[in-house]
Amino acid sequence: MQNLDKAAVPRHVAIVMDGNGRWAKKRFLPRFFGHKQGVDALVRIVQACLDREIEYLTVFAFSSENWKRPSDEVSGLMGLVLAAVSRYLARLGDMGVRIRIVGDREAVSDKLRAAWNEAESSTEHNTRLTLNVAFNYGGRWDIVQACRKAIAAGVPADALTEAKLSEFMAMSYAPDPDLFIRTGGEIRISNFLLWQAAYTEFVFSDCLWPEFGEAELDAAIQAFRTRDRRFGGVNPQPVAQGA
Ligand code: IPE
Ligand code: IPE
Ligand code: MG
Repeated sequence: MQNLDKAAVPRHVAIVMDGNGRWAKKRFLPRFFGHKQGVDALVRIVQACLDREIEYLTVFAFSSENWKRPSDEVSGLMGLVLAAVSRYLARLGDMGVRIRIVGDREAVSDKLRAAWNEAESSTEHNTRLTLNVAFNYGGRWDIVQACRKAIAAGVPADALTEAKLSEFMAMSYAPDPDLFIRTGGEIRISNFLLWQAAYTEFVFSDCLWPEFGEAELDAAIQAFRTRDRRFGGVNPQPVAQGA
């Protein structure tokens, strides 16, 4: 691990874990093996985030659009998630990780829903790192579900400010991501955190997700540190008149 100044470490890192299929293809293996390797990469990166005192890690595991994949790949992914929960849940809990699932749970099986509930409830008191697993998640879904909840809560139209709507977004408990990493070489959002990424810094890596490790994470954090975040203002901030 590089010696990273704590102030320059992002509080919230979001990752599009892409490139599993290509990793497998390069090895003449079925895509499933790329996803399997991808789970191990995730556990490595969770540990790396803990070591760097990152507070929130949000990973894109299955998008609202990934149902378009062949049914054997989709069922393989669902099985893999169940296996990953039973294999790693206790270890993640011991590491101090709080797990939250973000996404539409309606469409997943009862078994998977039960596993998600168990993952969340058994880790809810942990405080070192919040791992948000975006599953059956889409940025557009999130905005629509937030609007629906606001309407159901009786929020009048003129009270529906940006701050108010944020309260209904799936990750209202977390600050917006500081750093957004996409592995696998594609330079697009693919419907990830559309609302929350308004002022997030983007880093795109050609590294395929199963090969993503500490060195690649540090390279992304290093790139983040060179960015001048202005949030629409100017840097350095002008001294106020009369100050
Ligand atoms: C990302 O890897 C994992 C999921 C979408 C579940 P891909 O499966 O998209 O891998 P590539 O992009 O085909 O290599
Ligand atoms: C985004 O990757 C979704 C996840 C990593 C879970 P995709 O592989 O589905 O994105 P596209 O289809 O290349 O845009
Ligand atoms: Mg992909």
